[in-house]
Amino acid sequence: MTKKSILVTFALGMATVFIADSPVNSAQESHVGNLAGNAGSGKQLYRRFCIGCHGPQGDGNGENAQWIDPKPRDFTAATFKCRSTPTGTLPTDEDLDHAVQRGFVTTNMPSWNPLTPQQRADLVAFIKTFSPRWGTEKPGTPINIPSEIPVNIDSILHGRELFQKMECWKCHGPEGHGDGPSASTLTDSKDNPIRPYNFSTGSRFKCGETNQDLYRIFMTGLDGTPMPSFADVIKPNDAWDLVHFLRTLQTLRTPESTVWKKYATEHARDIKPIGPNAGGQ
Ligand code: HEC
Ligand code: HEC
Repeated sequence: MTKKSILVTFALGMATVFIADSPVNSAQESHVGNLAGNAGSGKQLYRRFCIGCHGPQGDGNGENAQWIDPKPRDFTAATFKCRSTPTGTLPTDEDLDHAVQRGFVTTNMPSWNPLTPQQRADLVAFIKTFSPRWGTEKPGTPINIPSEIPVNIDSILHGRELFQKMECWKCHGPEGHGDGPSASTLTDSKDNPIRPYNFSTGSRFKCGETNQDLYRIFMTGLDGTPMPSFADVIKPNDAWDLVHFLRTLQTLRTPESTVWKKYATEHARDIKPIGPNAGGQ
């Protein structure tokens, strides 16, 4: 081998190592509102704020990950829980930005609201460099959410029937306490045990807190978890009925819980229990 060809071989070797070691598609961008995010700037921020949990390779194996449950997200799979897009599709840049801004209640994922919108957009651009899916697939089209129907007892009772019929109770429990018959058997896509949401724990969900967020949660599903999408089996107006019923499972005072409590006091004997042998109304 001549000196020159050794040098070329060496240089090619380095290039291969460099490509294998660096995130795919390093020119990734993001668009959040009218901000354009830059992956290069995002990388610096990631190293400072995110690497300890999500890891240098973005695979969720940061040095703190061993202490954390649920585990930090593995960005190489590009499977995300909080999406406006149908199950199985990539989220929009805005979805990722909202998740980073909001943080994940009841987990170690903090809210990154103190960062500027530009910094978050840069981080979103950088996160997308960890999976080749962003180079070959487009984000899904956000689901359409029709305007909310009025809250009344018919809507809540119908929502209650759906909670029974769609078997939400099997995981979430008849009273929504996260203790249904299947609850203790569930695992996520990484084979880690996962618990269904307990509706009595608070006002916030991982993917938001409004009635619209609630609608979006069960119509898109939380990908990577046993929480499925019901978009193919629940019609839009029926979905609002279910939202109204779910609000009565929380301990908050909501318009829904006020209507429900009044009805439940006056019609205690008419209310059938939810569960294996019940009609749900
Ligand atoms: C202390 C640990 C920790 C740090 C630091 C952290 N995260 Fe997370 N992150 C998590 C955990 C844990 C989850 C998974 C929560 C779950 O699955 O319920 C998560 C999930 C996510 C998700 C997934 C959103 C979805 O819809 O699935 C994104 C995006 C994310 N983090 C971005 C970031 C960014 C950007 C930073 C740095 C600015 C960061 N995280 C810093 C622990 C952390
Ligand atoms: C096979 C079990 C299973 C069934 C059936 C199921 N869920 Fe879930 N659900 C889960 C799990 C597990 C989680 C927790 C996911 C997480 O924390 O990442 C969850 C979470 C949720 C959340 C909270 C999401 C968040 O952002 O924190 C809502 C709301 C919800 N489910 C509603 C429903 C409704 C409504 C139905 C029925 C139409 C239903 N679920 C059926 C397993 C299930």
